[in-house]
Amino acid sequence: MPTYPGMACSASAAAAIQAVVQVRAHGPGRVNLIGEHTDYNGGLALPFAVAPGVTVTAEGSAGDHFEVQAHDLDERDTFAVPERVSGWRAFPRGVVAELREAGHALPFARLAIDSDLPQGSGLSSSAALSTALCLALLGVGGEEAGDRIELARLCSRVENEWVGAHTGLLDQLAALASQEGHALLIDFDRLKLTHVPLDLRGFTLATLDSGGSHDNAASGYNERRDECALACELLGIPSLSQAGAADAGRLPEPLGRRVLHVLSENQRVREAVAALGRGDLEEVGRLLDGSHESLRDCYEVSTPEVERAVEAMKDAGAAGARVMGAGFGGSVLGLFPPGVDPPAAAEPVEPGPAARLL
Ligand code: GLA
Repeated sequence: MPTYPGMACSASAAAAIQAVVQVRAHGPGRVNLIGEHTDYNGGLALPFAVAPGVTVTAEGSAGDHFEVQAHDLDERDTFAVPERVSGWRAFPRGVVAELREAGHALPFARLAIDSDLPQGSGLSSSAALSTALCLALLGVGGEEAGDRIELARLCSRVENEWVGAHTGLLDQLAALASQEGHALLIDFDRLKLTHVPLDLRGFTLATLDSGGSHDNAASGYNERRDECALACELLGIPSLSQAGAADAGRLPEPLGRRVLHVLSENQRVREAVAALGRGDLEEVGRLLDGSHESLRDCYEVSTPEVERAVEAMKDAGAAGARVMGAGFGGSVLGLFPPGVDPPAAAEPVEPGPAARLL
């Protein structure tokens, strides 16, 4: 077991200083190929981790508090006992509190956060941050990450209970359980994860920031969750994925349309996996278009900025394009056939590795 300055090992202060543990952990952003607003509805999604993300450097500290420096924001935080605050500071505090609650004995540490993932762009900078913080804090405490599904749940509690965004498990699982070159098929009902090879056959996936920044905690996201919970209550089912096709018509609007979205989106995920399996990327493109229509008309999470970004992707020759993540702004995703260039402002994305120690 490593020794830490913070362990008050007075007999060997010099040795302890030499043994200062420093670790770096990277939490990736994520793209969701298809399967939106299905995670908290017991449905299906097909995300993957991308190369940009958040890197946390953690160093054991002799002090009696945590020090956090957010380089990209040029802001800092200091705390001994994590108390609730708003903004980015809720993440390190929440992760420390939840890790301790889960029985991890964390040494005090200095943490430095660096990010090349724009906040609010819909690529889940929040899950990138919480997963990198978890791995770095566990690493500096000499612990392995352990069960990644459990860790995803812990990061999701941070987001729900400390940050105040009632998000599901999509982003955290994508960040923690993805595999390079693959998309991750998640069945949220059984929490079953399947790695699906993402062979794009010369097609390119690219994201385009709509310019409409979104903030899950403040947006209509929580309102959608409440609507889905109400629809379940009225139908007497545990999750909307268990609704029957006829159930939508039994509900008042907009609840009926919310059900239609969830059921059709689950079906599009199944069809996308099948289309990828037979190398039919044009069909994947059509499914992205179908997903966008449903998210715009039935789930109502699009905005004028998002519509313009989707149109820009289609005008450039995308085989399919759609709003991605929570919506209400953020990024859109487009799929481009071989030889067709995405718009200049778009960023090509590829399936990269999961959160890890560097
Ligand atoms: C956000 C949330 C996820 C998920 C998506 C929509 O990214 O964090 O849990 O609900 O929106 O699919």
